[in-house]
Amino acid sequence: MAIDVLLGLQWGDEGKGKIVDYLSPNYDIIARFQGGPNAGHTLVLNGKKHVLHTVPSGIFRKGIINLIGNGVVVDPTILVGELAQLEEAGVDYQERLLLARKAHLILPSHRMLDAASEASKGKQKIGSTLRGIGPTYMDKAGRNGLRIGDIEADDFRLKYRALKLKHLELARLYPHVDFDLEGEERAWFEAIDKLANLQRVDCAYYLSEQIAAGKKVLAEGAQGSMLDIDFGTYPFVTSSNTTTSGVCTGLGIPPTSIGEVIGISKAYCTRVGGGPFPTELEGEIGEEVRRAGGEFGATTGRPRRCGWIDLPQLRYSIILNGVTQVTLTKIDVLDTFDQIGVCTGYMIDGKETKNLPFDIDCTDIEPIYQYFEGWKTDLSKLTSFDQLPAAAKTLVAFIEDTLGVPFTLISTGPEREALLVKEKKVGVAV
Ligand code: GDP
Ligand code: IMO
Ligand code: MG
Repeated sequence: MAIDVLLGLQWGDEGKGKIVDYLSPNYDIIARFQGGPNAGHTLVLNGKKHVLHTVPSGIFRKGIINLIGNGVVVDPTILVGELAQLEEAGVDYQERLLLARKAHLILPSHRMLDAASEASKGKQKIGSTLRGIGPTYMDKAGRNGLRIGDIEADDFRLKYRALKLKHLELARLYPHVDFDLEGEERAWFEAIDKLANLQRVDCAYYLSEQIAAGKKVLAEGAQGSMLDIDFGTYPFVTSSNTTTSGVCTGLGIPPTSIGEVIGISKAYCTRVGGGPFPTELEGEIGEEVRRAGGEFGATTGRPRRCGWIDLPQLRYSIILNGVTQVTLTKIDVLDTFDQIGVCTGYMIDGKETKNLPFDIDCTDIEPIYQYFEGWKTDLSKLTSFDQLPAAAKTLVAFIEDTLGVPFTLISTGPEREALLVKEKKVGVAV
């Protein structure tokens, strides 16, 4: 049985959480494979909003296992906070949640270093969520990190202390930042004790047994392809592989196990934090998209930068991920617009191209737009794809034809039910 993958094709916040929640009854296991609490995945269930940071987005469904994979970096304090919110919402997560022993731990001093590193960058700030993601993956690659499985060892506190001392040395290279390290440490160790009650697994063995037993797995991505450490808009990226390749290393599964790759894209585009964004709309139209789309970060509350959908960018993400089907989200946000822009190419040095340049940050890119008529209709109440106004169908067909990948679902609102099935695909029982 194959593992299907769901991931973001832009700069994150494409609506992954909502779609994972919707699709999860078709699967036995939902598994996060990378990133950490920099993610904010929103689900709206019966009018109530839930934001998940570390826990996979299938947690609200009974009888489905949710696995935090080895490629994820875990902040115990944040995870325990999420669990408390789940308890409040009446979710019995104990039987449904598994934690990979090889997942790395975010220490309070990783967060301190993240803040100090950003403070040292001035204008070149990445706009990190300051959740300690970069420093934790640095320690993983530098072979210094602590993992969930280390909590069980007798010398865990000694190892913790040695790593913290290294961080304090490193912090001297950066400007001073206010950070209550002692207070954060107390909360962190309390959280570590609570995590001891969670079920832990050796991810690779667990998944290979489950797959052999015919169980269906959906791998849930965090961030988006343009934030991938290797292929994103470097250095304005996160520190993990957010693309399909990250599923293999982040869960311990072979490439031959990958089945459908479901790419999520908004009907426009957003980015939060610094870095290049060719189709950004800085004036009134961008402001209108932000207002209509409620484009404020689910993790940090920061206003998201907004712009038109960028087809060369999406084409790049589709190539990188081997996308087999696309879900288009937030089309309802465009309900009131007279005209909707679609970027079909870039002008660079007087030449037209469909490829992203190597140094996208330092290249003068002029997007080429084709404009489509708006539909000026409320899409949020529609119940089938056929009911979409002709203008909306024309826009979807143009994007789909240009990208050459089938569009299967069209999302028309934040609620679980606000979704139009365009095409059923074998593999994922939409
Ligand atoms: P994720 O990080 O990819 O899971 O996305 P976020 O949760 O950070 O951001 C997506 C936001 O859009 C959330 O507030 C969702 O509730 C909301 N959302 C998801 N799909 C739709 C949609 O089709 N229409 C509208 N209007 N909102 C949506
Ligand atoms: P989800 O999963 C949008 C951005 C940050 C910053 C850069 C690096 O909700 O789509 P980091 O904290 O990783 O050091 O930040 O990446 N970023 C996201 N933007 N959605 C996310 O996650 C993001 N996670 C990180 O804003 O620009
Ligand atoms: Mg998000």
